[in-house]
Amino acid sequence: MRHPAIHIDPPRGRLGILLVGLGAVSTTFIAGVLAIRKGLAAPIGSLTQMGTIRLGKRTEQRSPPIREFVQLATLDDMEFGAWDIFEQDAYEAATTAGVLDAALLEKLREPLSNIRPMPAVFDRSYVKRLDGPNVKRGGSKRELVEELRADIRNFARLKQVSRLVMLWCGSTEAFATESAVHRSLADFERAIDSNDAAISPSMLYAYAAIKENVPYVNAAPNLAVDIPALIQLANEQHVPIAGKDLKTGQTLLKTIIAPGLKARLLGVSGWYSTNILGNRDGEVLADPECFRTKEVSKKGVLDHILQPQLYEQLYGNLCHQVQINYYPPRGDNKEGWDNIDLFGWLNYPMQLKVNFLCRDSILAAPLVLDLALFMDFAARAQRSGIQEWLSFYFKSPMCAPGLYPEHDLFIQLKKLKNTLRHLRGEELVTHLGAEYYG
Ligand SMILES: NC(=O)c1ccc[n+]([C@@H]2O[C@H](COP(=O)([O-])OP(=O)(O)OC[C@H]3O[C@@H](n4cnc5c(N)ncnc54)[C@H](O)[C@@H]3O)[C@@H](O)[C@H]2O)c1
Repeated sequence: MRHPAIHIDPPRGRLGILLVGLGAVSTTFIAGVLAIRKGLAAPIGSLTQMGTIRLGKRTEQRSPPIREFVQLATLDDMEFGAWDIFEQDAYEAATTAGVLDAALLEKLREPLSNIRPMPAVFDRSYVKRLDGPNVKRGGSKRELVEELRADIRNFARLKQVSRLVMLWCGSTEAFATESAVHRSLADFERAIDSNDAAISPSMLYAYAAIKENVPYVNAAPNLAVDIPALIQLANEQHVPIAGKDLKTGQTLLKTIIAPGLKARLLGVSGWYSTNILGNRDGEVLADPECFRTKEVSKKGVLDHILQPQLYEQLYGNLCHQVQINYYPPRGDNKEGWDNIDLFGWLNYPMQLKVNFLCRDSILAAPLVLDLALFMDFAARAQRSGIQEWLSFYFKSPMCAPGLYPEHDLFIQLKKLKNTLRHLRGEELVTHLGAEYYG
């Protein structure tokens, strides 16, 4: 069934992309966009740049590129801004991150050097392993919010952008759970005014963004915008939000393999996952409190995909362990090992070993690009609050209270594409296929 198309403002003017944290992921993203603009590389891994979408019946042969079907902003329209606790510009920060070759960075030196981070809102109690000089000295949390809001407005004015999105690509903050001050907007605002320790820097950035009507994405696993108070604010202000924790590397593979095993009703008794990682993210995650935030995000995935409550015999006794070891020699080139103990017909045991030698930020950068473009699209389509259709990109997708998150990568992709079809008034693809047979 076709629905009427929803009004979507065209992407007029330039799009400002504000990144909290100018580390490995952010600089790999920015340098990548600059390289692609210059024709030095292709946008591999990006659904918005390389993906197509099938429309109508299979016999119609209509599969336009996604970016044309939903009129996304172009890479040439983007302006970048960032905050970081270090003063290094994007060229220096990319060099420190060590993800991209010096020869490529040299070709992009000028535009990268022009991106200098604004002083950050930072609190060491949330990231114990880091400290840096480029930090706002505002006295109270309320003053810090006001400074962030002024930064956003100044950036928009200076760069003459017509729209903005903000993405938290900062370090993973220490583990925190939702507390009373996070439950309603009124409590949250009172907590800002009383400098409550439960209001983390990432929440202040999220609050400032939403107050400025800027869509906010959380690429890390810390709570940030995933609290009732900020969800309420986003709904009230009609601002789209999404999170959390980009689905790259090991978790990406988990959400590809686990649905396959479950589709064939093969049992799983154990899933042991370990990683070695040597970048700054790995160093931050070596702190047990920050690792706990990541661990929770990584571990939720299998339970939701395998549904042990429905398939007790197959997944009821699953032992799932996840480790990250900080191992500096590897830098950004993470290595993940998975050992999966599974069983089949008549309980006969089998094993599957996966050794993924991946590059963390190379996997993350295209996701940042897609999220920036889709969130801008969501805002232009007047969508507000949690954008669950973007679950495809996250390890711990945000969803409405009372729902469980959808983790299966293929269901997530279907959901994303059907949302685009729905918004453009095209028929949803159900894969029923009855129309092809008498
Ligand atoms: N690379 C991936 O595949 C991947 C996947 C999922 C999630 N993530 C998450 O994305 C985030 C960024 O990863 P990365 O590899 O770029 O890490 P990184 O350490 O290279 O960069 C993070 C940057 O954030 C800065 N920062 C910390 N707190 C800040 C604050 N309050 N305000 C402004 N800047 C702040 C740090 O100084 C650092 O430069 C991490 O939280 C990581 O867990 C990364």
